[in-house]
Amino acid sequence: MRIDALTARSIPDTRGRPTIEVTLQGSTLKATASVPSGKSTGSHEAFELRDEDGGVQTAVAHANGEIAQTIVGRQFDTLDELDTLLIELDGTPNKSRLGANAILAVSIAAQRLAAQLEGIPLWRAIATRAGTTPSAPRLYVNVMNGGVHADFRLPFQEYILVVEGATSEALPIAREVFAKLGEKLGNAPMGDEGGYAPTFATLEEPFDLLAPLVAEHSHTSIAIDAAASEFYKDGVYTLLSKAYSPDELTTVYRELTERFPIHSIEDPFSEDAARDFTRLTAAIGNPSTSLGAGKVLIVGDDLTVTNPSRIASAANTKEINAVLIKPNQIGSVKEAIEAVRATYAAGFVAIASHRSGETDDTFIADFAYGIGAHGIKAGGLGQKERLEKYERLLEIEQEAR
Ligand code: PGA
Ligand code: ZN
Repeated sequence: MRIDALTARSIPDTRGRPTIEVTLQGSTLKATASVPSGKSTGSHEAFELRDEDGGVQTAVAHANGEIAQTIVGRQFDTLDELDTLLIELDGTPNKSRLGANAILAVSIAAQRLAAQLEGIPLWRAIATRAGTTPSAPRLYVNVMNGGVHADFRLPFQEYILVVEGATSEALPIAREVFAKLGEKLGNAPMGDEGGYAPTFATLEEPFDLLAPLVAEHSHTSIAIDAAASEFYKDGVYTLLSKAYSPDELTTVYRELTERFPIHSIEDPFSEDAARDFTRLTAAIGNPSTSLGAGKVLIVGDDLTVTNPSRIASAANTKEINAVLIKPNQIGSVKEAIEAVRATYAAGFVAIASHRSGETDDTFIADFAYGIGAHGIKAGGLGQKERLEKYERLLEIEQEAR
């Protein structure tokens, strides 16, 4: 593949913050990609380059300047060759010089352009590159937002409806549950990820509300992303103004899991609390996808940050049994695929994920389908940029027929 031109610019994300968009031209075709941005970011993530005022002009300048000068007019035999060149050009361990945001935008645009040049769907190109078997991911639809995504109106960051099956069957169920929940909640505001952001007085109430709606359908369950780094300080977890030790928090998770149809718990402890993860996984984790009663997936997000070596280390000490894959935590498609390989090598499932600040780029839908992910976190149904991911999954279902 030869890249003939590169242009980058700054566009607003769903929070109105700037992010980078890159367009590559190859032969007569063009491919555009933009990258999302997190708010509850792990401290071990790749470096998102931002200007002092929060803008991405420096990242855009790096893409239009140094990166364009290096890759335009050059012939690449493989996409890995291109990604490796970008990583080497940056030269830092966390992409802090050119910016993981600048590098990933180029990397995704290149993957998209290569698929177009080959005349195949993006998900198929990703599956071929990764050596994975494509399949429809469970929809992890964010129905209630809390934590830093909704000014801590709810203690945990995300309350998620999980629906299994073909997207054309799963999405109508998600729409129905989302609408019924909206009726029950009245005029709840929307959180960052397009789910409702109500307030409750107890930890159980959100589950009490959601569980009966979930029970109306088969193949549905509940997931949470505690994002516990955000309510952890000096050895103490604070939920609804009450302090919990790691042991007490373990009991909270165990009791919630026994009472409600919970399928997975993401980031139950802070990002460096490996030992607490291991104990929880031993207590209530189940590595199989056919989860028994009281058994759940323990998902690493801030813990593993889509980093192959952190995933391998979490596997060694049995900290988790599932891994969230967010390409922008690592900063290139090549390394995101390596993270998927590390996940599968450990016998874990992968859940592909958007970020809380999104754009209309639907790459994550193709990525989730292509790698045969267990699930996709693409947000709530109350925001256009989230709906576009689900719409893309419907399209993919047609393409895969
Ligand atoms: P973030 O949240 O994009 O703000 O990091 C998503 C998550 O924690 O899964
Ligand atoms: Zn998370």
